[in-house]
Amino acid sequence: MLDNNALHEKVKSLLYSLTGITLAENKDIMIANRLHKLKRDTKYSGDIDELLVAIENGTHTMEFINSFTTNKTHFFREDFHFTDLKDRVLPEFAKSGQNIKMYCSASSTGEEPYSMAMTVLEAQEELNKKINASILATDIDTNVLQYAANGVYRYSKSSKEFPDWIKPQKYFKKRVNKTLASEEILIKVKPELQKMVKYQVNNLNDTSYPFEKNHFDVVFCRNVLIYFSAEDQNKILRRLFSHLKIGGTLYLGHSENPHDLINYVKRIGQNIFIKTKELH
Ligand SMILES: C[S@@+](CC[C@H](N)C(=O)[O-])C[C@H]1O[C@@H](n2cnc3c(N)ncnc32)[C@H](O)[C@@H]1O
Repeated sequence: MLDNNALHEKVKSLLYSLTGITLAENKDIMIANRLHKLKRDTKYSGDIDELLVAIENGTHTMEFINSFTTNKTHFFREDFHFTDLKDRVLPEFAKSGQNIKMYCSASSTGEEPYSMAMTVLEAQEELNKKINASILATDIDTNVLQYAANGVYRYSKSSKEFPDWIKPQKYFKKRVNKTLASEEILIKVKPELQKMVKYQVNNLNDTSYPFEKNHFDVVFCRNVLIYFSAEDQNKILRRLFSHLKIGGTLYLGHSENPHDLINYVKRIGQNIFIKTKELH
């Protein structure tokens, strides 16, 4: 039987090979908790060493990945990106009548792609012009993708999640649920948002992505690169960049770095980049 140290090293290397996620040194308690939960949830009868061998051989691999991702997100996180989308990017598409293709590359439970969709509908109303938009939202975690596609969220009136220019009641239907704390209700995204967003699994660490080159006008890659080594971050960014059109916009999370892309973009705001040329 492996000692704790060896067990945790095995988890780290397995997680790295499956997802590219690099766990920091001080994650022992987190690893132990998640392993125990995984064993409980999968009802695995052997010991944890054996469970890891099974995962390596393809059994419970998806559950393993799902249990080690960090899915923290909220609606309109870093809302200045959505303001930029509404005030700078979307008016161009309203004017030209061209479809805008957007990619949300680590969508977690859906708050980010639905915020993109709400932004489109707001811009459309402000400009009084139809905007044809499609949003592809991907994640490696199949549980969060299912949650996102279902589109049901907890909402509290006192929450400051939505910016002033969004009235949640326009985009969500209220659902009654007696088991929640009194100030919270369940809300479900309306069909007009849901039909704009398509969910799909994609591992950002794969060597290629199943999309055409120069396909997207907008790419959101926020608060996910932080889980990778600097070298892998750079590789992911280079791949994502090849799917972004010249003139398209890349939004990165507040603490994320554009690495090699820096000479191929124009920075126009807080981690807002316009692609100016191809990177070879
Ligand atoms: C902290 S959440 C960020 C969600 C959202 N982008 C935001 O800014 O609020 C990070 C997400 O990245 C996903 N993720 C981690 N590794 C991934 C990989 N290799 N490929 C795709 N998604 C990954 C996780 O499953 C998780 O849902």
